Amino acid sequence: MHHFAYRDGSLHAEGVDLRRIAAEVGTPVYVYSTATIERHYKLFAAAMKKAAGKAHVFYAMKANGNLGVLKTLGALGAGIDTVSEGEVRKALAAGIPPEKIVFSGVGKSEQELRFAVETGIYQVNIESESELDLLSKVASSLGKRQEAVFRVNPDIGAGGHAKITTGSSENKFGVSFEEVGRLYSRAANMPGVRIMGLAVHIGSQIREIDAFEAAYSKMVALVGDLKGEGHRVDRLDLGGGLGIPYDIPKTFDYGPGLIEAYAEMVGRVTKGLDVELGFEPGRLIVGNAGLLLTRVLHLNPRPTKQFLVVDAAMNDLVRPAMYEAYHEIWPVAEPAIGSPEIAYDVVGPICESGDTFTTGRALPQLKQNDLVAFMTAGAYGASMSSTYNQRLLVAEVMVKGDDYAVTRPRQSYEELIGTDRLPGWFA
Ligand code: LLP
Repeated sequence: MHHFAYRDGSLHAEGVDLRRIAAEVGTPVYVYSTATIERHYKLFAAAMKKAAGKAHVFYAMKANGNLGVLKTLGALGAGIDTVSEGEVRKALAAGIPPEKIVFSGVGKSEQELRFAVETGIYQVNIESESELDLLSKVASSLGKRQEAVFRVNPDIGAGGHAKITTGSSENKFGVSFEEVGRLYSRAANMPGVRIMGLAVHIGSQIREIDAFEAAYSKMVALVGDLKGEGHRVDRLDLGGGLGIPYDIPKTFDYGPGLIEAYAEMVGRVTKGLDVELGFEPGRLIVGNAGLLLTRVLHLNPRPTKQFLVVDAAMNDLVRPAMYEAYHEIWPVAEPAIGSPEIAYDVVGPICESGDTFTTGRALPQLKQNDLVAFMTAGAYGASMSSTYNQRLLVAEVMVKGDDYAVTRPRQSYEELIGTDRLPGWFA
């Protein structure tokens, strides 16, 4: 469910008319609904608590790292899953306590590990033997012992696209199943780490509970084996990846997707395991809570097709270009029922053909300066944006009830150009 709907003929985010945001902030602009973010987090956290008793939810910041979003989730008690020093720092800046921060990722540097250990974060998810050695070295040099888990590659991949599958043995993530026992034994004699358990994450935009079940069942068996060998397994981090609907209806009343089915499966598979469960949802929390508002710049009719050129581009929302991702496109002015539709190729201003949001999409007839919204853009939208073609980094807005705030102003041209430095030989 989300809180975007037509009211008085115009698309609103909660109580705020998108025409107002476009007029006051300009386009393109991401618009997030606080109520939707809160609803999804609460639903997920409650379902996991019910299914598992002890459950920690670490929102995966990579989906949307806007400070306002992080603050909103922090106020509800969320922890944060991070993948870089920048993300750890941003979680701290949002007031997230260190003991609620998890640090994942295949390529943590020595400096990043040192920062995490000094900060006193809850858990490092170790992805290789080399990282285990480095973490222990770094932590012991600081006189500390860092709590950590091994991220295991279960050799079960899933996800909405090959580029977002992580759990296959072909993917770069995690230590192999066969190695975990040996690494556990080695770690027991290392001064700088305390291994608390295991983690797994098999991919993203996964809508089949069976794929999760297969991976989690393997993890549960592994927990049993390790415990049988006398190892300590107090924590099992089940990662993120639960998919969301991208073909969303234009009403308020659709369910949150697969949360209930997922929770039932987690409860069943982990029953009697006696570990604390962790979860790292990203897309599920923020995906449907955001849209990218854009304006029609030009119509370019051709004999065979009709191009609709909008002011958002692949640097603002890269998912269609990168993963062939589907986003609904809603005109901000509510279309009259039964109004004729035209097949459009919706494209951005960037100088490559890949800057295409969709081809042959049937939409109500649009004209220059009309506003349209790319729906379900709250996850991996602004967080993957860039300045390609020297376009300004996109602005972000959060709505709460009848109020809204700019939570990231559009970059200025001074900022865009001013960060470059000329080599001294031009002086
Ligand atoms: N935990 C780990 C270790 C991850 O690598 C990820 C996502 C998550 C949690 C959160 O997954 P989620 O619940 O959001 O599916 N840019 C792509 C998605 C990349 C996902 C990367 N890892 C997209 O736009 O579809």
